[in-house]
Amino acid sequence: MDRVLSGMRPTGRLHLGHLFGVLENWRTLQENYACYFFVADWHALTEDPRKSLEFRTHIEEMVMDWLAAGVDPEKAVLFVQSWVPEHVELHMVFSMLTTVSRLTRMPTLKEYVAQLKAEELRTQQKNLLEEAARKTADVLFARLEALADHPDRDAILKAELKKTFLESLKAAGQEGEEDLSYGHLVSYGRLGYPVLQSADVLLYRPAFVPIGEDQAAHLELTRELARRFNRTYKTRVFPIPRPLFTEHKKVLGTDGRKMSKSYGNTILIGEPKESLQKKVRTMFTDPQKVRKNDPGRPEICPVFHLHRIVTPAQEVETIERDCRSGALGCVACKARLLEELEPRMEALRDARAPFEARRQEVWDILEEGTRKARAMARETMNQVFAAMGMPRPGEGA
Ligand code: TRP
Repeated sequence: MDRVLSGMRPTGRLHLGHLFGVLENWRTLQENYACYFFVADWHALTEDPRKSLEFRTHIEEMVMDWLAAGVDPEKAVLFVQSWVPEHVELHMVFSMLTTVSRLTRMPTLKEYVAQLKAEELRTQQKNLLEEAARKTADVLFARLEALADHPDRDAILKAELKKTFLESLKAAGQEGEEDLSYGHLVSYGRLGYPVLQSADVLLYRPAFVPIGEDQAAHLELTRELARRFNRTYKTRVFPIPRPLFTEHKKVLGTDGRKMSKSYGNTILIGEPKESLQKKVRTMFTDPQKVRKNDPGRPEICPVFHLHRIVTPAQEVETIERDCRSGALGCVACKARLLEELEPRMEALRDARAPFEARRQEVWDILEEGTRKARAMARETMNQVFAAMGMPRPGEGA
């Protein structure tokens, strides 16, 4: 049976983006492949080393969502990346087989850097503004006394304060200028993120890797590293894995942007009934559909977007037609969506409940999975070290 491998960073409770984008796919795959699904805790650390403090709850919550969604530990191997030390070993081997410039060209790194640069610029500007204000205040206090009896005190003060403030601002403009370097913002570990991901994948020598489009460049590096290792050591240890792109690439959140925790627009897996109702009721719709019978544009409406995922296809057609014609109002359309979502969420809540009552179960499942994962990972590393001709303990002279 072909193997499949995928990982997810422990971010805590998951939402419908994960459910429709990833977990439903995992559930199908586990029927036909030997699946390895893991918690990518090392990867989560690359953005912030303090994340480790949240892992206990985040891993528990996330894996409960996996289980609630039907990912089955009897069918798939569920494990924690950092519990299988071979990930770190293979990462080290691969880190010699790629270059810094190959990694700095990664589109994911560029996005990450752009985000950090924007943040850096904001704090820089804030600091400089504060500084300008402070300097201006200093001038005010110093001169207020000196000019106490001067007949033109107010006019002089005004001019001097303005000058000081503008000069500080000008300095701010210059300091904030084009600094294209970002080495100081990116940790060594973050730079190696795609190398670690390649190690994750190739340790299990899978045929397929289900990923989102955003991970395509990482899998490309993985394929390169597999070829480069094989070529360098004249071996065929690594088969070249292929990506499996997931069907629902993007699930929209309640505000019409991509569903994401950072936007605060999520519907959680097993969202409680009351908050589900409230979230759906307040979802964005076509802003041009003001009154109930105004014609709407389903293609820009996040409510319709969710209908397409959860409502039977035939009815989706009717909804689309009636929205366009103005026959269907948003309130009714949302009520209909809720009729589809609520039973599904209820089933998810029910499936999650036994694990919430006995959290130890989650950790037991991960420990059992880790044992199985390690056996496979060890076997790969034995082949890797043999191909490299690395002396190993116990081999003797
Ligand atoms: N980088 C992936 C993501 O953010 C998570 C991940 C880590 C992964 N290692 C992996 C996915 C290996 C697939 C295979 O989604």
